[in-house]
Amino acid sequence: METQSRCITGIEELDAELNGGIPTGSTVIVAGPSGVGKTTTCMQFLANGIKLGEKGVFFTASEPVARLINHLDGYDFFTQNLINEGKLSIIDIWSISDRLGLNTEHYSIEEANVLFEVIRDITKELDAKRLVLDSITSLCYRLQTREMIRDFIFKLGSFIAAINCTTLLTSEVPPRVFKYSQYDIEEFIADGIIFIGDIERKGDLVRTLQVIKMRGTAHNRTKFAMTLSSKKGVGLSPLLKAYVSPEHRPMPLVKSSTGFL
Ligand SMILES: Nc1ncnc2c1ncn2[C@@H]1O[C@H](COP(=O)(O)OP(=O)(O)O)[C@@H](O)[C@H]1O
Ligand SMILES: [Mg+2]
Repeated sequence: METQSRCITGIEELDAELNGGIPTGSTVIVAGPSGVGKTTTCMQFLANGIKLGEKGVFFTASEPVARLINHLDGYDFFTQNLINEGKLSIIDIWSISDRLGLNTEHYSIEEANVLFEVIRDITKELDAKRLVLDSITSLCYRLQTREMIRDFIFKLGSFIAAINCTTLLTSEVPPRVFKYSQYDIEEFIADGIIFIGDIERKGDLVRTLQVIKMRGTAHNRTKFAMTLSSKKGVGLSPLLKAYVSPEHRPMPLVKSSTGFL
């Protein structure tokens, strides 16, 4: 029997797929091409956590905070109150980096350590139980080497697990390429991978979501069709509905005077 506690994503179909949610303390890569819905999915994960009394912190290394909030305003799951009440914190990682006087192109090992310590201290101070880093790809550009990338994700993952916080790292990949990370290394260190892709169907691009791996839990690998709407945010439905041939369909129940036959 699985005993590990779960971080409920609040996206029903995804929680069902994961046997209740992401194992608490995991570091999960949310990979996919630009515009597919990674940031939105991660924000909804944080907003859903707040409903369960878990604070969230979102470190942005791609979009500026104001633009991010502007996009989020279009979704019902987001209200400015989440921020005003201190339940959701959105932090621009590059502003911190600049304030600390870190190199704007490539980090030295010491600089990477300083950034890790800042993320660690902020997360601890906020008492966040959910963390998002959007995107790990932009951060990797500054970390330069595979060793530094591995070290950074490993250290972040160990710290996060120790405080029972669950982390999503977004990973930007080229369109219609079956790849989960830029440097290959990120996906090996992460406990899980959720891939959001798009497939062309009758000239339209249909979004898809699939759990590729998740350590610490049994899970299916159903490919879902994913929709984004203002009201629901992320919506999932199985892409291939199970087909049951007529001869295998259950017989309809026939009512008799003594009950169902
Ligand atoms: N209110 C909305 N309702 C439905 N879809 C939206 C809404 N706002 C933005 N989108 C869609 O979300 C996409 C951006 O999603 P985003 O999470 O930023 O993607 P990514 O982080 O993968 O680049 C846009 O391309 C747009 O199609
Ligand atoms: Mg994004």
